[in-house]
Amino acid sequence: MSEILVGIDLGSTKIAALAGRIEGERIEILGFSLVPSQGIKYGNIVDIVGASNSIAEAMKRIEKMIGTKLEQKVIVGIGNEQIMITPSKGMVIMKNRDQEINSQDVERAIEAAKIIPLPPNREIIYIIKREFHVDGQNNIENPIGLVGTRLEADILLVSYDNSQLKNIKNAFERANLEVEGFVPKEIAASEAVLSSQEKKLGVALVDIGGDLTTLAIYQDGYVLSTGVLRLGGEKITRDLAVGLRIKTEEAEKVKKTIGTLKKDKEEVLEVISLQEKKIKISSSQVREFLQPRVEEILEFIEKKLRDLNYPLELIPGGLVVTGGTSLLDGFVEFASDYLKIPVRRGFPIELLKYLPEKDAYFYSVAIGILLRVKEDKLNLKEKHPVIKSLREKIKKIFKPFKEMYI
Ligand SMILES: Nc1ncnc2c1ncn2[C@@H]1O[C@H](COP(=O)(O)OP(=O)(O)OP(=O)(O)O)[C@@H](O)[C@H]1O
Ligand SMILES: [Mg+2]
Repeated sequence: MSEILVGIDLGSTKIAALAGRIEGERIEILGFSLVPSQGIKYGNIVDIVGASNSIAEAMKRIEKMIGTKLEQKVIVGIGNEQIMITPSKGMVIMKNRDQEINSQDVERAIEAAKIIPLPPNREIIYIIKREFHVDGQNNIENPIGLVGTRLEADILLVSYDNSQLKNIKNAFERANLEVEGFVPKEIAASEAVLSSQEKKLGVALVDIGGDLTTLAIYQDGYVLSTGVLRLGGEKITRDLAVGLRIKTEEAEKVKKTIGTLKKDKEEVLEVISLQEKKIKISSSQVREFLQPRVEEILEFIEKKLRDLNYPLELIPGGLVVTGGTSLLDGFVEFASDYLKIPVRRGFPIELLKYLPEKDAYFYSVAIGILLRVKEDKLNLKEKHPVIKSLREKIKKIFKPFKEMYI
């Protein structure tokens, strides 16, 4: 059972967990679960007992589905404004000129890049490999097997506040689970829903969740920047509850059933008011509250891109939206008209044979975690064109790394 990996997305409204087995390029999904999350607000743990109970419940459901107890190690998707991304470079010199670069050299170059001063109370949680340079030659995706004297790693260091990390680890510990690694949510979601073509051309991934909207901008295959906005579907529900004077549960129902950004759509729903009276709410009433919030999210995206000198009109791939709030009726069309760029809904295609399409939107981060781990494992293997005769030799070198995630 040791090769089963579990990825968990700690969302503000739900916990999505996925168990999968990685076999070379393939991931076989073995189990999945979605449970409401307790004790998580804006991506932070605010109630450790509540959070660990929901984590335990998500794991219990997966184990029931698979019919066996799982290894107690998990990889967790996290992210809010605590995420800090710092570019860095590290260089190593090969011992002799004709020596082929191996995985240990790559690791040494990455380790060298990690030695940079970070603000206090920060811990490196993840590394994004951008490219390598061998003797000054750029754009090398994987240098393993190449010959050269100087190897440089160009990476992005992702760091996080260490007390928040401790809280997250403690919540898992209370559920008898050990956190083996973290993946930033926006990177995971991008992995799950963006195509490599889009990442090369230029695209922005937008995950609109409950408390947060997260953004990741890609160009030339690499992530350029990420961003977080403290606004998501929960605020929309609260606006509706306050504005229409109805209970939160009723507001949630109203949002999901008659909430729409389409101007020509008009439906009516009967709900119970705060005064316990039956009242009728129409789609246009709901839109009065919905639309300004959606516009706020879209303006945040526009501003973030402008700050990066990468305005919307220069993004050929446009926006790819995911997360629960992207399911708002008419969202895709509205966003595309408002920003005047192409917008599509992105979901993890890998999951479609297991889940109904609507549910798949809630698993973008969880599947992205498994995909990232798979990629990282493959990058340490023979993904890059390696001369065939060297393969066996290289396999031996990689052996110790095989255990990295297992
Ligand atoms: N059909 C729907 N129409 C509109 N909103 C929806 C729909 N389904 C879910 N939502 C909203 O999506 C939000 C939850 O989305 P999601 O599960 O992606 O968030 P999360 O990952 O828990 O939170 P976060 O990423 O902000 O920490 C809730 O606010 C919910 O009301
Ligand atoms: Mg989320």
